[in-house]
Amino acid sequence: MSNDPSSRPVLELDQVRLAFEGEEVLRGVCLRAMQGERLVILGRSGSGKSTLLRLILGIVKLVSGSVKFEGAEVSQMGRGRLNQMRSRIGMVYQYSALISSLNVRDNLALPLEELTDKSTREIEAIVDEKLALVGMADAKNKMPAELSGGMRKRVGFARALVLDPALILYDEPTAGLDPVISAVIDELIITLSEKIEVTSIIVTHEMSSAFKVATRMAMLYEGRIILDDTPGHFRESTDPVVAQFIHGEVDGPILR
Ligand SMILES: Nc1ncnc2c1ncn2[C@@H]1O[C@H](COP(=O)(O)OP(=O)(O)OP(=O)(O)O)[C@@H](O)[C@H]1O
Ligand SMILES: [Mg+2]
Repeated sequence: MSNDPSSRPVLELDQVRLAFEGEEVLRGVCLRAMQGERLVILGRSGSGKSTLLRLILGIVKLVSGSVKFEGAEVSQMGRGRLNQMRSRIGMVYQYSALISSLNVRDNLALPLEELTDKSTREIEAIVDEKLALVGMADAKNKMPAELSGGMRKRVGFARALVLDPALILYDEPTAGLDPVISAVIDELIITLSEKIEVTSIIVTHEMSSAFKVATRMAMLYEGRIILDDTPGHFRESTDPVVAQFIHGEVDGPILR
């Protein structure tokens, strides 16, 4: 899809620099996500992947460069505009981040009650539709504590979908799940992107997952994107850092 000249970028990062207390985490990141893509971001622990997602949401601020969502500069948005943008972005957190005192239905209804003027009946219909999409319709009246990790994750996906986002950000969607549930989650990411034509950015360091879901991959290393290409080209890459990372080898430039 990225080769289609008629598709336009949902997200564009240009020469992004970001530092925490003088320590540079991003040193000139350039990256774009085109409509409908599933872009997987690879990188070592601590390389700045979650920071990149927080930057997209306007939670952390850049030192220089530009982040544009649907053509609008995120760093220049005021609070109202920022909230409007956030309602168009679904975020799936590593630990699903459901509110433990609310049942599944209320967890999903909350963003709709707070950010839209939809009626109770409309909200009910949306909650049912999104739970059905992730195969969790039966869990509607359950509390988060009554669900397994994989089920909570699926409910977290459903919650990210209630506002019909243009972009979904997944932070380590399969971390801590068994291989079978991981495969189910991978399938779900693909199905959702095809069914609702949403653009997806997936942060992971699980290679089997990455190669299964990606339509394109980008690797973050020492503050920059060192390779941005198709999964096929990643697999064949002779770049020593990329090759060491995707094959999980001990010997190589990483750790040297
Ligand atoms: N709020 C913060 N204040 C100071 N330093 C931070 C903050 N958030 C992140 N960092 C630092 O920025 C770097 C990147 O962190 P980040 O969480 O983005 O890494 P990551 O690639 O998501 O790692 P992991 O794979 O372990 O989740 C780390 O060195 C981290 O210590
Ligand atoms: Mg992280």
